[in-house]
Amino acid sequence: MKTLLLIGIGAGHPDHLTVQAIKALNRAEVIFLMDKGPAKEPLNRLRRELCERYLTDRPYRLVEAPSPERQRAGIAYLDAVEHLNADKQQRFEQLIAEALDEGQCGAFLVWGDPCLYDSTSRILDAILRSGRLLFEYEVIPGISSVQALAARHKVPLNNIGQPVMITPGRRLTQALAAQVDSLVVMLDADNRYQALVDQDLEIYWGAYVGTPDEILVSGRLGDVAEEIERVRTQAREAKGWIMDTYLLKRPARR
Ligand SMILES: C[S@@+](CC[C@H](N)C(=O)[O-])C[C@H]1O[C@@H](n2cnc3c(N)ncnc32)[C@H](O)[C@@H]1O
Repeated sequence: MKTLLLIGIGAGHPDHLTVQAIKALNRAEVIFLMDKGPAKEPLNRLRRELCERYLTDRPYRLVEAPSPERQRAGIAYLDAVEHLNADKQQRFEQLIAEALDEGQCGAFLVWGDPCLYDSTSRILDAILRSGRLLFEYEVIPGISSVQALAARHKVPLNNIGQPVMITPGRRLTQALAAQVDSLVVMLDADNRYQALVDQDLEIYWGAYVGTPDEILVSGRLGDVAEEIERVRTQAREAKGWIMDTYLLKRPARR
């Protein structure tokens, strides 16, 4: 039987790798690296560094393959993600069939935590359901960007006894309507916090959290929204990509 490990590698700092993740890494004979183009190469550079630094128990093989891209124009977001995952499923099937021998163990090094806004386990489940390949897989949790962000700002995610919600940027308005006190926003390409500057909210924003390029800004949303947008635009232009997350908090109520 082939085995696959989905190893959460944390949000960008090499020390985010957990002891469990290091042990899992050392079981892998093949490491799959999905290539998302030159702008995202630093993310795979970190993956290679993690292997060099921590995968010391056995020889291993890096297998790189181009990652399918999401269509961005002329298609609804959820449809585009569905097509993307279908393309990824094909690519993963081919990789697992051709690059991993029977009895071998392969690993995907998943950014942050594999169970937060990541479709790798969904894709592996779909392959198994299709019956076209047989393998077993395990998920090793990682430090998500949400945890890394809260730690760097030294801010509890929740107000005492209150819920926390996590939303993609495009659902921000609906999420706030749910009257939660603490809202974590990921995948916001459009500075959607700008629509909320009149509300009584604190923002804790971070880009490239955990990496040498980390940028943190916090304060009353109305006071720092312009600064965040300016810094964010500059950083994205300079590097060609950005990964940022923010926590919005209302004042604690009694
Ligand atoms: C596809 S999701 C993957 C999330 C990942 N599985 C996790 O646990 O953090 C990508 C989003 O995660 C967030 N993200 C990932 N790494 C980050 C980092 N180092 N700093 C800030 N945000 C990050 C951003 O919101 C980015 O748009």
